[in-house]
Amino acid sequence: MMIAQMRDEKSWIITIDGPAGVGKSTAARGLARRLGAVFLDTGAMYRAVTLAAVERGLDPAETDAVAALMDACVFEFRSEGDAMRVFVDGADRTAAIRDPAITEQVKHIAGAPALRARLVAMQRAFAGGCEAVVTEGRDQGTVAFADAPVKFFLTADPVERARRRHNELVAAGKDIALETILTQQQHRDAADEGRTVGPLKPAADAIVLDATHLTAEQVIDRMEILVRERLRATE
Ligand code: DC
Repeated sequence: MMIAQMRDEKSWIITIDGPAGVGKSTAARGLARRLGAVFLDTGAMYRAVTLAAVERGLDPAETDAVAALMDACVFEFRSEGDAMRVFVDGADRTAAIRDPAITEQVKHIAGAPALRARLVAMQRAFAGGCEAVVTEGRDQGTVAFADAPVKFFLTADPVERARRRHNELVAAGKDIALETILTQQQHRDAADEGRTVGPLKPAADAIVLDATHLTAEQVIDRMEILVRERLRATE
């Protein structure tokens, strides 16, 4: 098998960037499964740092204090099948990092260049321990792994992204208006696209995929075909 041969020869990484709610995690998880690679959710790293800061009573906007905290805490990201578990100082915090209060505060960490540099180092250290990785985030193809052999940038119509998120929340029993989700999403997009360091944007050599009219499975199918073609061409 071509992918297996590639893995024997050298390690490789595939990046998937895109805005919140576009389906990056599902795509990255599915693609990693098909290629026998490890899945890296870099948003979970930002969330873990935010959670650690909030729980220790720090203001996430105090960059120096958060940087010191990052040195003092032990963050562990364990690949389990196609999932990634998050541990802070030995405690499993995989579910806690998804709390809306953490989602609300994570922008302070994401917007601080000194903290982003530490997070990028964390991402590279994680990938360095793996033979093959599919990573997803905002700056994976542009900053963290700028020389990755295959890079994707996933987009989708904003209303469709909000509608999918709304359906998920309603299915989970939450009572929230579509307009509220759309407004929150606009704020997150503006923050992601507007920062000076590691902004959300496609790498010059990224393959841009529009997922508006595709199912998750179709997105993964397309990515898998493109990856196999690209890796075969570089053999
Ligand atoms: O993908 P997510 O929603 O779990 O990401 C959480 C936050 O982290 C989001 O506000 C953007 C930020 N983030 C980032 O700035 N860079 C990354 N590589 C991944 C996430």
